[in-house]
Amino acid sequence: MAEKEIVETSEAQIAVHWQEEAYFHPSARFIAQANMTDEAIYDRFRLENFPNCFKAYADLLDWYEYWHTILDTSDAPCWKWFVGGKINAAYNCVDRHLARHKNKTAIHFVPEPMGEKYEHITYQTLYVRVNEFAALLRDFCGLKAGDRVTLHLPMVAELPITMLACARLGVIHSQVFGGFSGQACADRIVDSGSRVLITMDAYWRGGTLLDHKKNADVACEVAAKQGRAVDKVLVWQRYPGKYSAATPLVPDRDHVVNDVLPKYYGARIDPVPMPAEAPLFLMYTSGTTGKPKGCQHSTGGYLAYVAATSKYVQDIHPEDVYWCMADIGWITGHSYIVYGPLAVCASTVVYEGVPTFPDAGRSWRIAQDLDVNIFHTAPTAIRALRKIGPEEPRKYNYHFKHMTTVGEPIEPEVWRWYYNEVGKGEAVIVDTWWQTETGGFLCSTLPAIKPMKPGSAGPGMPGIHTIIYDDEGHVLPQGAGKAGNICIQNPWPGAFQTIWGDRERYVRQYYERYCKDPQSKDWRDWPYLTGDAAVEAPDGYIRILGRIDDVINVSGHRLGTKEIESAALMVPEVAEAAVVPVAHEIKGKEPDLYVSLKPGFEVHDGLARKVSDAVCDAIGKIAKPRKVWIVKDMPKTRSGKIMRRVLGALSNNQDAGDVTTLANPDIVDEIRRMVQG
Ligand code: WT7
Repeated sequence: MAEKEIVETSEAQIAVHWQEEAYFHPSARFIAQANMTDEAIYDRFRLENFPNCFKAYADLLDWYEYWHTILDTSDAPCWKWFVGGKINAAYNCVDRHLARHKNKTAIHFVPEPMGEKYEHITYQTLYVRVNEFAALLRDFCGLKAGDRVTLHLPMVAELPITMLACARLGVIHSQVFGGFSGQACADRIVDSGSRVLITMDAYWRGGTLLDHKKNADVACEVAAKQGRAVDKVLVWQRYPGKYSAATPLVPDRDHVVNDVLPKYYGARIDPVPMPAEAPLFLMYTSGTTGKPKGCQHSTGGYLAYVAATSKYVQDIHPEDVYWCMADIGWITGHSYIVYGPLAVCASTVVYEGVPTFPDAGRSWRIAQDLDVNIFHTAPTAIRALRKIGPEEPRKYNYHFKHMTTVGEPIEPEVWRWYYNEVGKGEAVIVDTWWQTETGGFLCSTLPAIKPMKPGSAGPGMPGIHTIIYDDEGHVLPQGAGKAGNICIQNPWPGAFQTIWGDRERYVRQYYERYCKDPQSKDWRDWPYLTGDAAVEAPDGYIRILGRIDDVINVSGHRLGTKEIESAALMVPEVAEAAVVPVAHEIKGKEPDLYVSLKPGFEVHDGLARKVSDAVCDAIGKIAKPRKVWIVKDMPKTRSGKIMRRVLGALSNNQDAGDVTTLANPDIVDEIRRMVQG
């Protein structure tokens, strides 16, 4: 507890020193074409009008049966939206567009190698491919509504095709980020209870055709040890008809999709009408304990929320070409590459590779080639693109009307480069703050209505009522100039329903802290705890300062310190492990890993490497520590708690502060000499 308070105090100090930025206003040209220009929307979504205001979002979708109850709170805090409604997500993202837009490109697939042709998949083709693959899932794998399937796919068109095929059947998909290791994939297979794994033989990343199938072998082996047998592995081929992985297929278990699929050519599968509150997918994310949690998202509420925010915040019109650079393996990709954009009939870009490969101009060339006019990315990518090619965007003939940033706070300096150079001063920027759990945006500006302010996400979205509490539970009013724990006062349709298989953890982690009455069935008693520290300016704009818990935001991706620490503890020599975030120019934050050894073990060559490799094997390269520091002992409180705050200060070249109350203050000096030289 004491450590947490210290973190928050230092965040609050940042807030005091921080200067308000000037507003930037959208152009008349942008406003003239925008989907949402009616300021009264904020009134319509006032708390007094909750929850009925969200009917407008549900009405963006086609329902088999219209719902009767907009919000059912009887199982608080597991909220049910649009109860009684029957809907199919794949129908809404594909079938319903055929009448008017069947020849329109749904997905532009851009392969990483420069020589390879772009693939333009029309809504009609998408319809055919989703149907055929759904038939295969149903008839070859025996999958039915409610079953879970784990996907471990790279950024290829087959990923949204697979997701939509699952959605067509009501099968719950759980896509694991392609860059995660086989072990990380195994944990998610086991937790979700999947018996089918869908993967790809290989994919391109930074100029190398990576063998991806080998991860499936590790995943199945590790899952089997935990009692979960995967009976089918479906392997898409990066080059249909040609198997591109060095790892051989496992007979009887592995099936090449392109070998099985011809049997289902021409198959058409009726979309299964699903209850609005049936789970559509699981998305695992890091929390404060070692075990990743499967955020369970609904079908009706989720789809309504991402469709509405795609339309009103992303300002997507059917004639736009929309490119979100995120990976579909994260929530951003689910909501704002696949479900949101396709629900509003966009052309959405799926790019396989690295944005700066093979050169600094790659992203802008793609934008030019496809005439992208809405661009969505993260501060980490913006920093990287700015660093390697600050002048590069000018060389290309593209014009964005709209740009987004997501995933971590953006420095005003970086924001201005994004605005002036990437957006050429023509595009609006929305800074969208939200989380895996929240399904869609929480805070952002509505681009034609609210001005932009670099470094601030903006006010709560219509119908999202933020509230900032201090540690004692007092409300910090607008303009208080102090940081606190930002919560949301009301449920909203995009919110996750629970943690898969762990309702207790869901309640504890997100609702317990500021709950007014644990017996209550009234949503007013259940503020949702986001886990972020934030300050609210006098104009109601929210500035997010970062996590208040043990989560590190690396390149906009959440890593639990406990996950990294548990991986390090698997190394036989390691007795204790502590991870702290270190500031990084491009990634925002990077993990620094401190380990102490068990008695009888000495530091030896290659030990740091061994620990680092253990982390990469358990989670993936994204979690690779900046540095593994092997220390004699950890700085500890008298009760034996590792003082991560002290290690964090040392790693960031700061003063460790007062350490006299520690059980072993001398160790701090020793570690300082090691780390700071
Ligand atoms: C955490 C959620 C939202 C999809 C990508 C990340 C941080 C997210 C912003 C933003 C400042 C942000 C928060 C949040 N975050 N967006 N615009 N400004 N911080 O999803 O992996 O669930 O991470 O990312 O700390 O809690 P996620």
